[in-house]
Amino acid sequence: MKASFSAPSNIAFVKYWGARDLARAIPYHPSISMTLSRCRSLCTVETRPAGEGDEVWLVDEQGGLRDPGEAFVRRVREHLDRLRRHFSAQEGLVVATRNTFPSAAGIASSASGFAALTITVAAALGREPGIQELSLLARRSGSGSAARSVLGGYVEWPRGEAEEECFAFELARARHWRLCDLVAIVQSGPKKVSSLDGHLGAASSPHFARRLELIPDRLERVRQAVRDRDLGTLGPVLEEEFVDMHCIAMSSRPPIFYWSPATLAVLERLRELRAAGREGWATMDAGANVHVICRPADESDLAEALAATPGVETVLRDYVGEGPQPLDEHLI
Ligand code: PMV
Repeated sequence: MKASFSAPSNIAFVKYWGARDLARAIPYHPSISMTLSRCRSLCTVETRPAGEGDEVWLVDEQGGLRDPGEAFVRRVREHLDRLRRHFSAQEGLVVATRNTFPSAAGIASSASGFAALTITVAAALGREPGIQELSLLARRSGSGSAARSVLGGYVEWPRGEAEEECFAFELARARHWRLCDLVAIVQSGPKKVSSLDGHLGAASSPHFARRLELIPDRLERVRQAVRDRDLGTLGPVLEEEFVDMHCIAMSSRPPIFYWSPATLAVLERLRELRAAGREGWATMDAGANVHVICRPADESDLAEALAATPGVETVLRDYVGEGPQPLDEHLI
């Protein structure tokens, strides 16, 4: 049996940062994200007889197969074992995967990658899990944000009092509000400190308890902004929230600094552009790159101005998008 799917990346409006149970990615508080359209992971999985084991491959631009390296293979294999246990399956699995975005661009690919892997393995094993089960399984990969990448549009992932209640759900469809995400790449290549290390340190920040107090109001403002398609409400919350997450990182023990000088240059330029009537609002994940959320009407002007900012290597243009989709062609 062979199956192929793509799954989208997502950008968090309210971040997952710090975990009650890091191995199973159970967060301290809910998070909300926008599913992206162009930044996706593609995956093909083929089953083979039980004794033949697993294989994991990265597909390159020319369609050739590359060894993804030990750390990647280990995380994928652990998830294959987890999925086999869950589905009471014995088959060996051959996995091939690639991203539609340059892997050197510093865009988080574990969310889309583990969402795609989870869905494709289930299909190759002939299982048809519901969306809640898929979200739970993607989350158990250890990349918590993968729980949100099994859905399209605007997505909330709750705190989940019980582990089996910790799955994401859709807040609004993509077509409800057509927002853009312009990613100003100021640092390509893999980030220096993984988000897993960030989660690990979060609760050591003296400001973490205060963050937990502030989150419920922020979540409510984001839900309301999405409901009302209100960028004037969403924008300031986005910026408050990413600065807060990075303050936690910077004040963790040991501290983590993701920003580069070019990050500050982009944020400064964005303030000038807003003052000139181009409404874009920043958010940042665990890296130096800046995501700018805006309306389609401002997309081109903002993208050009950001690309011309010193230190910006390139600007990726993405949009709110749909959830996982079957692929027309297998990767292998
Ligand atoms: O899912 P992880 O473990 O890669 O963590 C994601 C962390 C952030 O991207 C910074 C925030 C988020 O909610 O996506």
